[in-house]
Amino acid sequence: MHNAIRSLYDEHEMIVEATEVAKEAAALIGTDDARYASTVKNLMDFFRTYADGYHHHKEEEVLFPLMLESNEMLGDGVLKEMLENHADFREMLDGIQRIWKRAAYPKCATGWRATVKLCWTTSPWRTMRSSTWP
Ligand SMILES: [Fe+2]
Repeated sequence: MHNAIRSLYDEHEMIVEATEVAKEAAALIGTDDARYASTVKNLMDFFRTYADGYHHHKEEEVLFPLMLESNEMLGDGVLKEMLENHADFREMLDGIQRIWKRAAYPKCATGWRATVKLCWTTSPWRTMRSSTWP
């Protein structure tokens, strides 16, 4: 596997690990709400800066155009699915942030569980073969 693709895989694993932190932080709700609120804020910063601003940006601006160039059939398949996955991810973060601002922490935890599910079960990265990459 090319080093650049390996880096993207590694970044993806880090993002998935952060969603696990978000899921586990739910244990703080009702016992230490201030710490939960602070944890969620830090996670939101991480997801917006690292996951979306850094990782997704590289995929959308560099990797996906290269993949499309090497196989235009990918445009309506896996690339469309990945772009939808990114859009869902951003939408979920927006929803969690709105809920977090209202301090509705149990609902926040529900939002994180959905985000974890998105990262674990619907991400095409988990099932793609190396031959897909440019
Ligand atoms: Fe990704």
